[in-house]
Amino acid sequence: MKIVLPGGTGQVGTILDRALSAAGHEVVVLTRRPRRPQDVAWDGVTPGPWAEAVDGADVVINLAGRSVSCRYTPENLRAMMDSRVDSARVVGEAIAAARRPPKVWLQMSTATIYAHRFDAANDEATGVIGGDEPGVPDYWAYSVEIAKNWERTQAEAPTPHTRKVALRSAMVMSPDRGGVFDVLLRLARLGLGGPVAGGAQYVSWIHDDDFVRAVEFLVAREEIEGAVNLAAPDPLPQRDFMRVLRKAWGVPVGLPATRWMAELGALAMRSDTELLLKSRRVVPGRLRDAGFEFTRPGWEGAAADLVRRARAVPGRPGRVRVGEGWARSSPRP
Ligand SMILES: NC(=O)c1ccc[n+]([C@@H]2O[C@H](COP(=O)([O-])OP(=O)(O)OC[C@H]3O[C@@H](n4cnc5c(N)ncnc54)[C@H](OP(=O)(O)O)[C@@H]3O)[C@@H](O)[C@H]2O)c1
Repeated sequence: MKIVLPGGTGQVGTILDRALSAAGHEVVVLTRRPRRPQDVAWDGVTPGPWAEAVDGADVVINLAGRSVSCRYTPENLRAMMDSRVDSARVVGEAIAAARRPPKVWLQMSTATIYAHRFDAANDEATGVIGGDEPGVPDYWAYSVEIAKNWERTQAEAPTPHTRKVALRSAMVMSPDRGGVFDVLLRLARLGLGGPVAGGAQYVSWIHDDDFVRAVEFLVAREEIEGAVNLAAPDPLPQRDFMRVLRKAWGVPVGLPATRWMAELGALAMRSDTELLLKSRRVVPGRLRDAGFEFTRPGWEGAAADLVRRARAVPGRPGRVRVGEGWARSSPRP
């Protein structure tokens, strides 16, 4: 198949590009900074010659959007919104204008669309969309608004010959440098992988192999349209999630952090505490009902695999400073 990945240069794009190219597909990446032969220039806002890549493609998977790993200033929140809505709109315009439109358009969305909650898990049928939760910072509602506008832009695009699926994805865990697993692992290795603000908030995640397999499944299953959760079936509280990760790497301690310590840490990392504190309890209802089987359903097995692969990343040291002394991590393979 010919598969076009707008915004395919980031963490998720790298995972998909690698796997889909290895499977023998022709992958074209739309990027603002083309560097490789398979890259095509676009700006994510305006129609242009890049639309020729969409015409005649089999699949489009739009991943473009300003990184959410930043301080949630009004300016950054606006850029997070505009880059997602504008890119979805212009991808829809290119598909609508194509003489040979793609069979399916997968549009990235996010598990963050669901409410911050602890009591029950959110599937697509019974899940609660966020934005009205009491006792959470006002700006958390903005992330939900971004996701809703993102999905609405895709849903309203006039593309009658192209099936549309919105990927409400949890955090995609891969050992690649700079990805979310890499950041969490680094914190754990520094002894900072303890409970944050009590650690009762749920973490939803999906192993990179299952993410790719779910994308392939959704491309193949012609009856599936609309929003689909991409998350492993058993999200777990943050304190347990980090304990499993510490154990997988062999880190003996994980210092707990209070909410204000997390604020300081997020400030130092130029990130935002919503990423740590919001309870994302999301389960794959539609994938499960359609018969999708996860190869890494449990966090323990997934973390062990990710750690094994992370140790094989060149240049990653095998020794980490933990607390007062040096702790030796398990031998590298
Ligand atoms: N990573 C996860 O676990 C996860 C989970 C759920 C949802 N998501 C969503 O999935 C999408 C892909 O995630 P990711 O982790 O791969 O993100 P990423 O690493 O930040 O990559 C996103 C790509 O979007 C492009 N981009 C950035 N700002 C842009 C702008 N203003 N206009 C047009 N393009 C822009 C960039 O490509 P160029 O610089 O090459 O143009 C960048 O490589 C994001 O929208 C993210 O919110 C990610």
